[in-house]
Amino acid sequence: MYYIGVDLGTSAVKLLLMEGNGKIANVVSKEYPLYFPNPGWSEQKPEDWWSAVVEGLKELTADFDKSQVAGISFGGQMHGLVVLDKDDNVIRPALLWNDGRTFEETDYLNQVIGKDKLSQYTANIAFTGFTAPKILWMKNKEPENFAKIAKIMLPKDYIAYKLSGVHCTDVSDASGMLLFDVKNKCWSKEMLAICGIKESQMAKIFESYEAVGTIKPELAKEFGFKESVKIVAGAGDNAAAAVGTGTVGDAMCNISLGTSGTIFISSKEFGVDKNNALHSFAHADGHYHLMGCMLSAASCNKWWMEEIMQTKEFAKEQSAITDGKLGNNHVYFLPYLMGERSPHNDSNARGTFIGMTMDTSRADMYQAVLEGVAFAIRDSLEVARSLGIDIKRSKICGGGAKSPLWKKIIANVLNIKIDVIESEEGPGYGGAMLAAVACGEYASVEEAAAKLVKVVDTIEPDSEIAARYEERYRKFAQIYPAVKELFPKIS
Ligand code: XUL
Repeated sequence: MYYIGVDLGTSAVKLLLMEGNGKIANVVSKEYPLYFPNPGWSEQKPEDWWSAVVEGLKELTADFDKSQVAGISFGGQMHGLVVLDKDDNVIRPALLWNDGRTFEETDYLNQVIGKDKLSQYTANIAFTGFTAPKILWMKNKEPENFAKIAKIMLPKDYIAYKLSGVHCTDVSDASGMLLFDVKNKCWSKEMLAICGIKESQMAKIFESYEAVGTIKPELAKEFGFKESVKIVAGAGDNAAAAVGTGTVGDAMCNISLGTSGTIFISSKEFGVDKNNALHSFAHADGHYHLMGCMLSAASCNKWWMEEIMQTKEFAKEQSAITDGKLGNNHVYFLPYLMGERSPHNDSNARGTFIGMTMDTSRADMYQAVLEGVAFAIRDSLEVARSLGIDIKRSKICGGGAKSPLWKKIIANVLNIKIDVIESEEGPGYGGAMLAAVACGEYASVEEAAAKLVKVVDTIEPDSEIAARYEERYRKFAQIYPAVKELFPKIS
């Protein structure tokens, strides 16, 4: 049998075809545009996602026995607001997870409703990228669109709906809406009332490994699939990536270096960081997780190389950053190109270089970019450590994990072992695994992870480099508090 994982990302959708034994048979990627209509705004058209998925599914399965496809599931960019009218037409482009326009609504939720209440209702506080502040923004700024809303959906759920006709979501993605009672896994009546919406406008909630229905017969025909193909709820991209890297059960850690950067800690028990600096969400394995999310990770690398240096020769540019330079750079970079989520929750924060001198080289600047992302991940790791969570090793995935240099920097900045697994296709592979579980190929997500995920390499921190980075991290940690007051004045 074949299982398909659809990783609905921010720059592209990646589709992965997995055999029942976990072997990856094919991977296809389709890009779509990302719109920044105003500074700090970030939008995509759900119709673009759907065309890319349709094209991608056809290309993915073209050379395979399509009658063997048994299930399709997802890992999707989280928090995005997709609104449908009474005829299920998309009302306006989706507001994405890294959209910072909702700072007034976020302030209202955190200050007027109050963080304590939000945390009591949802286990989380408001961040500009979360879905609830976006709904309030639409209510305040686009009342004519708000009035048309019949269904509120998340990005991957729109694709599941197009494939199955079911308005569905899963517990991990629903957790990032600030409308979901994470502990009890149901919509929060209080939050729906605060946002002026009814439960009938929300999707039906499933566990990530549950089938929401089967593929629509007309689509089965178009793709050449059987009508019995199960459409499986899937997960937010980070929870799906955690499944794909075997980060399930208790106290396992995964770092994702995608457009965003996340540190994800799985937990069998529900728990909340008392300062809510880390998100407390449901996991795709049926349990829970804590997560720190930085808004710009691999996107800082892409921005520096493609926009500023005007080159795509990543490996060549990184070859100038030799071992002796690690931990010795005098330049620092704050990677807040889209504002920052964890742990600062500051949509006004901006990218910042500091420390350059006349002898600063192009390689030093690039190294600062890669290190800045690693230091920002360390910020979230420090929050986890302050909660008594002892992390000694982590898996890694995402586009940035392809770089041996960046993995080495992360291992040394965090001073933990980094386990590299066979495939970096975290969310796509995790999505395919969830489909396999729903189709009965594996008894549980944990069983699938134990059988399918293989560690192929471990990067150990080097004591000298890690000691140098320890000192540099202490300095990095002082920069944001020192410049923070300036950001609202210049942004
Ligand atoms: C997680 C988050 C991002 C997006 C990226 O909270 O906002 O990781 O899911 O796709």
